[in-house]
Amino acid sequence: MLVTLKEILEIAEKKKIAIGSFNASGLEAIEAELAAAEELQLPIIIQFAQCHEPWVPLDTIGPIMVHMAKRASIPVCVHLDHGETLEYLAKALEIGFTGIMYDGSVLSYEENLANTAKVCEVAHACGASVEAELGSIAAGEKSHEGSASDIEAYTDPELAGKFVKETGVDALAVSVGTVHGLYKGKPNIRTDILEKIDQNTQIPLVLHGGSGVPEQDILNCIERGIAKINVNTEISAYTVESTAEYLKKEQPHFSVLSLKQEEYVKEIVKKYIAFFGR
Ligand code: 13P
Repeated sequence: MLVTLKEILEIAEKKKIAIGSFNASGLEAIEAELAAAEELQLPIIIQFAQCHEPWVPLDTIGPIMVHMAKRASIPVCVHLDHGETLEYLAKALEIGFTGIMYDGSVLSYEENLANTAKVCEVAHACGASVEAELGSIAAGEKSHEGSASDIEAYTDPELAGKFVKETGVDALAVSVGTVHGLYKGKPNIRTDILEKIDQNTQIPLVLHGGSGVPEQDILNCIERGIAKINVNTEISAYTVESTAEYLKKEQPHFSVLSLKQEEYVKEIVKKYIAFFGR
């Protein structure tokens, strides 16, 4: 069943778990992610990032995501990841996305605040919820986030409190040491900063760059307000490696290969959903 970002994050807060949010830019990924959540009977967020538009247009993939979410037996939010322009966000709302992220993290604090407030007004009028970002999450290795800058700027807990109050945003993506993509060294997750942000904002927080974060760090983050965890790179890496192994043994028809890849995506997504939801 299709639910809003706000509704799905309320489930997370009540159960003190995080909801896995997985990027999907093709039918196989959507099918596999939803099948993983159905098998575990846990909620899921499926998301499409604006920077993946060159791979498949939003107006092709978006209606499929919404249609499939409506058919699911578990709560599903269909979310736009890293929306950069107001026009693009409006398109996602028109298609029926129930969550949209406005990423104004490259702008000044004032511009990010003004644009986020405007996005909240429009999205809320459409019955959808909004995630915004404050601070800047850097890009690691093999990052798939075209919009990610290479600058890491931790979220300021004081500003975060003010930002949430003045924009009316439903969830806030924070920069506390995770990166988009794979880590060059050991991640240094600043749970001290996260704890302060949580105290000051009192809304569900979002951890981008979920790939490669050690399990104990994830648990520490969930304890300190993280209710949505984005994972992309590791799903791709696992699927590509498994496909390479498979192709050493078989030369299947393309459609059989697609089904095999769906299995790989399902396996890795299940692992994440089960861990975040325990
Ligand atoms: P990873 O690719 O590092 O898992 O990050 C995904 C993400 O944060 C999408 O917004």
